[in-house]
Amino acid sequence: MPRTVTDFDIPTLRARRTNKWHKFPDDVLPAWVADMDFGVAPAVAEVLARLARDQEYGYAAREGALAAAFSRRMQRRFGWQTDPADAHPIGDLVQASFSSVMAFSDPGDAVLLQLPSYPPFMAAINDTGRRLIASPMRDNGTRWVLDLAAYETAPDAKARVLIFCHPQNPTGRAFTRTELEEVAAFAIRHDLIVVSDEIHADIVYPGNTHVPLASLSSEIAARTITITSATKSFNIPALRCAVMHFGTPDLRARFFARIHARLLGSPGVTGVDATIAAWDDGQPWLDEILAHLQANRDWLAQTIGAELPGVTMRQPEATYLAWLDCSALALPCPAGQFFLDRARVGLNFGESFGAQYANFARLNFATPAPILREIVGRMAASVRQR
Ligand SMILES: Cc1ncc(COP(=O)(O)O)c(C=O)c1O
Repeated sequence: MPRTVTDFDIPTLRARRTNKWHKFPDDVLPAWVADMDFGVAPAVAEVLARLARDQEYGYAAREGALAAAFSRRMQRRFGWQTDPADAHPIGDLVQASFSSVMAFSDPGDAVLLQLPSYPPFMAAINDTGRRLIASPMRDNGTRWVLDLAAYETAPDAKARVLIFCHPQNPTGRAFTRTELEEVAAFAIRHDLIVVSDEIHADIVYPGNTHVPLASLSSEIAARTITITSATKSFNIPALRCAVMHFGTPDLRARFFARIHARLLGSPGVTGVDATIAAWDDGQPWLDEILAHLQANRDWLAQTIGAELPGVTMRQPEATYLAWLDCSALALPCPAGQFFLDRARVGLNFGESFGAQYANFARLNFATPAPILREIVGRMAASVRQR
């Protein structure tokens, strides 16, 4: 048994049959996909053990339970009052973003998206025959900021949807209320439906606050689908359980007029029970994890500054992801490939977040401190030896 909530070693982690630890050869330390090298909250472990002990795998009677837990959580954590009747259980957020794009636009229509972007958002646009209108964020020397004004010079008459990632993956931005008000005004002005992906909302560091976009006003709520889950913050992505929240019953009706609910599937009983346990009873565990993540983030920012000259990292305000700008290293190949080949560290390649980001890489720092030290030590050595 681990002594602390973050006490996991490499053999233990590699013994897990996870994508994170098995995508690369065994001499590579993985720091890519967004799950955590920790365990789960005791409350989550208990409900899963109970299901296994009682062999409770018959058709589940949980009608409305997940939606009610969602409403409790949003109220308690973000002061956002929602009606459980507006929340719909779903297997995962990627499905929610694809189906929302399909419900609120037609092939040939345009969908706006900030870059760099979590790759499946681009797929939700391109693979469904919509046109991606990129809205690149800007590094203002301190942090990554939105640049909505650029779009105003050439708005697209067939723009229907904005996919908004908040907090933002991969830049780690937790947008301020002022920025969110600008996004809301922008969406209203251009008559866009907003898909607000708030999956990282629980991983926000002191000094920042998560404000659900739909909580700003009834006007923005009426055009916002908020998609979220407990999977990132409570480390249960394999359990496939998420929630779509429609800002009004009318928005919900418009969605289901285009997408049959039966096509979306529904989360399994393990996902539902674990999510409810996490949201209702998992916060003490998450608080411990957040303290560890904050320490990792601070150590990482400091060490990158000191040991990896040529790599720039803006302090993430949220998420356990660091977006590393390696442009100044002038590497002979994409940054992700360089660190894979020379450091034996498996990062997310920057170019998967937008073609222009080959000089970037995304590092997942949700790992025990000794492993993070080894990852960054290997990267620093590879840069020194290049
Ligand atoms: C912003 C964002 N949305 C969605 C997901 C994936 O969610 P799901 O596994 O529920 O599809 C991730 C995972 O990294 C993510 O970072």
